[in-house]
Amino acid sequence: MKPKNLKCPFTWKDRRPVIHDHILYVPEYYQEHEKYTFPGWESPDVFGRAAPIEVEYCTGNGAWIVEKAIAYPDRNWVAVEIQFERVRKIWSKIHNFNLKNLFIVCGEGLTFTRYYVPDHSFSAAYVNFPDPWPKDKHAKNRILQEPFLTEMARALKPGSIATIATDHVEYSRQIIEGMNANPLWESCYPDPYFVREFEGYGSSFFEALWRERGIPVHYMQYATQGKR
Ligand SMILES: C[S@@+](CC[C@H](N)C(=O)[O-])C[C@H]1O[C@@H](n2cnc3c(N)ncnc32)[C@H](O)[C@@H]1O
Repeated sequence: MKPKNLKCPFTWKDRRPVIHDHILYVPEYYQEHEKYTFPGWESPDVFGRAAPIEVEYCTGNGAWIVEKAIAYPDRNWVAVEIQFERVRKIWSKIHNFNLKNLFIVCGEGLTFTRYYVPDHSFSAAYVNFPDPWPKDKHAKNRILQEPFLTEMARALKPGSIATIATDHVEYSRQIIEGMNANPLWESCYPDPYFVREFEGYGSSFFEALWRERGIPVHYMQYATQGKR
């Protein structure tokens, strides 16, 4: 299956939330998210089974999460990616590797979490190399700030871990500040709240790129309050 074989199931004019062929489409510039009833993770249209669910926001082409879905078939995996061209690449891997435990959300991470994700849905969350939006005037577009940090905590089960990787030092500082200020999160690492090596974490397109160029990566881990 090639990425270009995936066609969007609606036109721009007709855009609406739809689940089709392993993908939940969460449309942009759409005002009626609240009217949609998500059928639930165990629905045959989603995973069709009960298993712990781990979510990756800002998935890109899917290299990291596809590796995980293959390595951990007993878990369900959700890839959240806003760009349709990248969703197509993840989708082609689902078909080519016959992955029943990987589901895609084609949409914006905060909108998806806020309107579609029931409380305590996920057992773990990952955000690998979120766009840093390096210009000051664009920094408001960064996903890892409020209200997303609070929404992500709500979506996780108590005592679950969110892992974040970034090469961008200033963004890493902002993430740490935001997470440390939010009572729903507790850092798994002492000050300075990140590590530079994470054995066995897996590799994404950007992780491999920065490693090849010798650019250091900051890995952060934060736990939601409560016992698992
Ligand atoms: C720098 S790339 C990293 C991709 C991948 N995680 C990796 O490490 O190779 C960031 C990705 O996040 C997606 N993205 C940015 N903002 C997003 C948002 N608010 N919700 C969902 N995806 C987003 C972009 O389209 C892009 O594919």
